[in-house]
Amino acid sequence: MSGWRFMLNGKLVESHASGLARLADVLRDDFGFKGVKIGCNAGDCGACTVLLDGRQVCACLTPVAQAAGKVVVSVEGLIGHGTLSRIQRAFLRHGAAQCGICTPGMLLAATDLLGARSDPSEAEIMDAIGGVLCRCTGYRKIVEAITAACGEVAMPVLPEAGAAVGASAVKVDGRDKVVGLESYGADGIPADALWLRVVRAPHARACFDTGPLEPVRAAHPELKLILTAADVPSNGFGIYPDIKDQPVLADGAIRYRGEAVLALVGPRAVVERIRDDELPITYRPEPAVTGIEAAEAEGAPLVQAGKRGNLLIEGLVRRGDAAGAFAGAAAVANGRFSTSFVEHAYIEPEAGWARRVGNRIEIHATTQAPGMDREEVATVLRLEKEQVRIVPTACGGGFGGKLDLSVQPLIGLAAWLLDRPVACVYTRPESMASSTKRHPAEVNARFAADAEGRLIAAEIDAAFDTGAYASWGPTVANRVPVHASGPYRVPHVTATSRALFTNAPPSGAFRGFGVPQVAIAHEALLDDLAGTLGLDRLEIRRRNALRAGDRTATGQKLEASAGLPACLDALEPHWRRALDAVAGQTSREGPLRRGVGIGCMWYGIGNTSLSNPSTMRIGIDAGGRVTLYNGAVDIGQGSNTILSQIAADVLGLPMARLRLVAGDTDLTADAGKTSASRQTFVSGKAAELAALDLRARILRLANAGPAARIGWGGDALSIDDGGVVRVLELGRLPVLPGGDVLLGEGRFDPPTTMLDAEGQGAPYATYGFAAQMAEVEVDIELGTVRPLRIVAAHDVGRAINPQQVEGQIHGGIAQGLGLALMEEYIPGRTENLHDYLIPTVGDIPPIEVILVEDAEPLGPFGAKGVGEPGLVPTAPAILGAIRHACGLRIDRVPVLPHRLRAALTAAKR
Ligand code: FES
Ligand code: FES
Repeated sequence: MSGWRFMLNGKLVESHASGLARLADVLRDDFGFKGVKIGCNAGDCGACTVLLDGRQVCACLTPVAQAAGKVVVSVEGLIGHGTLSRIQRAFLRHGAAQCGICTPGMLLAATDLLGARSDPSEAEIMDAIGGVLCRCTGYRKIVEAITAACGEVAMPVLPEAGAAVGASAVKVDGRDKVVGLESYGADGIPADALWLRVVRAPHARACFDTGPLEPVRAAHPELKLILTAADVPSNGFGIYPDIKDQPVLADGAIRYRGEAVLALVGPRAVVERIRDDELPITYRPEPAVTGIEAAEAEGAPLVQAGKRGNLLIEGLVRRGDAAGAFAGAAAVANGRFSTSFVEHAYIEPEAGWARRVGNRIEIHATTQAPGMDREEVATVLRLEKEQVRIVPTACGGGFGGKLDLSVQPLIGLAAWLLDRPVACVYTRPESMASSTKRHPAEVNARFAADAEGRLIAAEIDAAFDTGAYASWGPTVANRVPVHASGPYRVPHVTATSRALFTNAPPSGAFRGFGVPQVAIAHEALLDDLAGTLGLDRLEIRRRNALRAGDRTATGQKLEASAGLPACLDALEPHWRRALDAVAGQTSREGPLRRGVGIGCMWYGIGNTSLSNPSTMRIGIDAGGRVTLYNGAVDIGQGSNTILSQIAADVLGLPMARLRLVAGDTDLTADAGKTSASRQTFVSGKAAELAALDLRARILRLANAGPAARIGWGGDALSIDDGGVVRVLELGRLPVLPGGDVLLGEGRFDPPTTMLDAEGQGAPYATYGFAAQMAEVEVDIELGTVRPLRIVAAHDVGRAINPQQVEGQIHGGIAQGLGLALMEEYIPGRTENLHDYLIPTVGDIPPIEVILVEDAEPLGPFGAKGVGEPGLVPTAPAILGAIRHACGLRIDRVPVLPHRLRAALTAAKR
């Protein structure tokens, strides 16, 4: 039978799939081109973009029959004879790929454009990539790369020995991202793997019974397994060792829509064919507890039995006498601020596969936390930790959402029971219905200042909707009171928080752990105080900015690296220019109004008052191969590169000589999770210590002093100790377990203290600081807001890799913009990327980043962290700009057009 013939990446191929089969599936599954990514299967994300006769199309919406007789190019076809194309080189050089899951689609969209236009304008570039979503980069570096690709682009090279730290070194894992070889959770599934499909609850709150499953098995004899709660050895998981409240499979009670009820395991076609209504599950829906107010209402049903008042946890920071201090204030500002659920919307849905290897289980999955996954899977399967191996795949975006378990326990259990590889890939709606979200918040706050604008007191009470299960709710409840009074000196503070259970998806970790929500409140109130006292909004922040030597609301003395004043100084010329520009707009006719806003933030790096160590190892084998064993997962933020830069420079080794083994729990030590902006600071320090340890071992063997220089040859090292050169033949050293002959190890656990009953202590070893400024244009008739420009000044301690630091800030700003203006997850209604809008390239204005390097003595080469700080001040700056433009303080985000219009209309009355 003849099939569909077409040219694919330069070769004539023939597909015998149904003509209606999705081209994306055919390219991936039949021809093995896994560079075609599937982020939504619905035409919304553009990850599957390929070229069809030179024009970009969504391969997930293109039937294979349409390719017949045409030329199809996937990302794998962009590389010619092993040489990267110009656009691929440009993406590498400009840091345009972070996690890399959108990169194939971006490259092909750009190739389509550059095939038609040799010198496109920025608007044309933005138009060309407008259909491809990127959740990591904020798009600016992608636009930069495409612009650069119009000219010559040299192949980037890694820095020489001693020149890595401070250089914008190209990503060490970047090449695979631009050629389509990076293997994400769904890309490495063995051909003989069975498929697991999770059956999910259609109700937010219900009781249910499962009837006999035998008829299902009889109707589908190829089905290998139906898993229910009764099959899960220990049916509870959760982030905290003492809170394992989330069942792997629900056990008679549904607490949120999308909760896992059953799992079907068998051939993929079979598990996908079985309809949910074929299964003997009888639901008895009950009224759901929706929102904070309902959760706290008198007599509210309990989401979890025994959790009185639906209360998960409370947090407190109290310093001085806030209530008393308000009496002496020259100005007081107060308000109530609300935020919504926000979806992580990583472009890679949860995916992975597992296999049993003898008496061990091996799980390959997308994750931010292999060490934690290992412990959790061991607990659920009732195995020893040593029986579980986690091999993280490439992670196509996480932002906190892949810190919690997803596919891991079920594929692990099924593979264990069946002794066959088992895979699971969430659909986009499934991912959005079941994964954790940013906590919606209700923040009541009041701030007081003296006549000079110096803050004298703050009272903040923040309630968070933590959804059905605890997840990271305790972390949010603890982190928020510490940060609630902002990056300011406030002598009297009372900050309380509480996390409340509701019948919604669990709220978890999302870039900021509650700090972005509370920053909206403290920044709006700073603006109010400035207005009341007739002060400039930047100036009031400068007067109050925390500096080295100051004490925070927890009583912690900041010993060093508190660069907010320097950030404000750097921002000031931009601020004055923008204010002058707005003031110069004399006409108030027409619907458009411009405004400028400012937002500041601080962010404690690492866990709050908890140990969060990282261990790194660096080995050298008999052949002179140097390997960094790095258990920190790079989710796109660049830790693989940053840690390599640090290790290389400490060793005096060219970066290109450093090999990387990353993530695998059998091959690396626990580096902790990739969250809380901690990997550069904590794992970076551990890498520095590991390199120092390896160096010390080498010098000891060579009987050389501490200042000796190591010459990195092949199987011999030459150690130059003040002109006396000794040679260390590596082949003569005994081989260690693992194959190296020398191994250095470094461990770093940031020094913190527990908070006492009043929330006093030193919860973080260091803090990031930033000030951002936004210029916007508001259409007061339509209620729309168009960001025009953002300037971001960030104190990062030391920029180990300025390009990657900028990339993190750009990405954070894009997500902060989404939080401010467009993103609102509504369970059951916005479970796809069509109804849930995230910023496209057209939504992101020009961004200028100013790096302030106020070195942190504890950090590697002075570095802190920047993953979350990029996001926190953006929404406050945009909200301040909206207020400046139209005179209204908007207290609820996102500021959707209908909300802003309604507020403007109400204000006119
Ligand atoms: S996977 Fe095709 S557009 Fe998202
Ligand atoms: S780099 Fe674009 S989605 Fe991650």
